[in-house]
Amino acid sequence: MTVERASSNSAGFNDGDSRVMPAHVGIIMDGNGRWASRHGLPRSVGHERGVEALRRTVKAAQKLDLRYLTVYSFSTENWRRPVSEVTALFSLLKTFVNRDLDRLKNEGVRIRVFGTKEGLPDDVSALLDRAVRETADNTKFNLGIAFNYGGREEISRAARAVALELKAGRIGEEEIDEQLLASKLDTSGFPDPDLIIRTGEERRLSNFLVWQGAYSELVFMDVLWPEFGEDSLHSALETFASRERRFGGLKSGAA
Ligand code: IPE
Ligand code: IPE
Ligand code: MG
Repeated sequence: MTVERASSNSAGFNDGDSRVMPAHVGIIMDGNGRWASRHGLPRSVGHERGVEALRRTVKAAQKLDLRYLTVYSFSTENWRRPVSEVTALFSLLKTFVNRDLDRLKNEGVRIRVFGTKEGLPDDVSALLDRAVRETADNTKFNLGIAFNYGGREEISRAARAVALELKAGRIGEEEIDEQLLASKLDTSGFPDPDLIIRTGEERRLSNFLVWQGAYSELVFMDVLWPEFGEDSLHSALETFASRERRFGGLKSGAA
C-alpha cells in the first residue's frame, strides 16, 4: 500500500496555529488493570473507566480535523486472560455499542470493525455487525474498532483470500503485491495510521496494525488508559507534529 501522508492543515488544538495533523490515529488503550489495582479496585472497574476514556477520546477526536481513529479493544492474545475477564470485556463492548450507537450514528460516525469473528459469542458478533451496518452511509468521521484483532491473524487471512483468487485463476501470481495484499486487510479503505499512541507504560505494539504501522510515528505515554482524555490526545498530537517523517527519503532540504 502506498504511504499516505498526513494532511497539513489547521488543527486548532493549540491556539489555532497551523500544524501537521495525522489523518489516521491508532490507539493501544492499555493500563486499565494497573489503574484499578493502584486505586485498590477490581480490574473490571478499570475496564469500565476505560470505556469512559474511550468516549472522551472519540469526542475529542471528532472535534479535531482527524478523519480516522482506530482503537485496540481486544486482541487475539487477550483470550489468555481468565474467562471472567474476557466475559466482562465482551459485556462492556455490548454496553458501549448499545448506549452509544444511536448518538454516533447521528453524529455522522462510520464504524468499522477489524479482527476475526472466530470465537466471538454470537450476540457480540451480531452487535458489531449491526454497528457497522447502521453507520455504513456515514462519512464525517471513521471509527475503527479492533476487536478480537491481531495483526498477524489479519495478514494470514488476507494471504488466504489472495491464495483463493489465485487458485480460482482470477489473478496471476505476478499481481500479488503490497497494494493487493493491503486491499484484503480488514482496514482496507482506511489510510495507514500516521500516529500510533500507546498508553500504560509499555513500549510495544502487541500485534496492533503490524502491516499498516510500518511507517507510523509511535508515541508511548505513561498515562494509564482510564486517565486519558482530550489533553492527552492533544499532547500526543503535539509530539506527532514535532516529528520529521522521511519515509526512507532524506531530511527536507538536505538534497
Ligand atoms: C487494556 O488494559 C485493556 C485490554 C487489553 C483489553 P489492560 O487490561 O491490559 O491493563 P493492564 O495492562 O493490565 O494494566
Ligand atoms: C494490548 O494490550 C491489547 C489491547 C490494548 C486491546 P495488552 O495488555 O494485551 O498487551 P501486552 O500483553 O501487555 O503486550
Ligand atoms: Mg495491558
